Amino acid sequence: MAPASQAEKQAEKLEYIWIGLIIVMLTSFLAILGYAAIAKGFTTPEDVVTCDVRKLDEQITPGIREVAPGVYEVNITARMWAFIPNEIVLENPQKVIFRITSADVQHGFEIVGTNVNVMVFPGYIAEVTWYPPEDMEGEYLILCNEYCGLGHQDMYGKLVIVRG
Ligand code: CUA
Repeated sequence: MAPASQAEKQAEKLEYIWIGLIIVMLTSFLAILGYAAIAKGFTTPEDVVTCDVRKLDEQITPGIREVAPGVYEVNITARMWAFIPNEIVLENPQKVIFRITSADVQHGFEIVGTNVNVMVFPGYIAEVTWYPPEDMEGEYLILCNEYCGLGHQDMYGKLVIVRG
């Protein structure tokens, strides 16, 4: 073997520098993660609401209920390839609590143009509390944004906000 040239020695040195940098980065990422989880107590959400897909009808009744003036509770079942109910009409909503579950596979629930966007899994109820902007009015598209089979592109609904 020929003795290592100056260029090879230089390259090897750079190699070690990069290995060192990677070790420092990984260690600091893990340390930050550990600090957040253990010292600061940051964890994933634990108040997960589960449901039994086989007894869905007993656990979630699709529909819209006004529980207080301007406060709505909207229960939705997503299934291939529709939302039940498919059209949600809300009059002067101030606060909306969506409770969404799936009867079959993974779906998405997105109200286009808003910050409402959740994944919907069978066996779980996704709860979203939403405060619609006061000037929000009219029709909004609701989309399934998780690929859920052949009819995925036809899975959409409508949110109508009526003011006055
Ligand atoms: Cu449901 Cu895509």
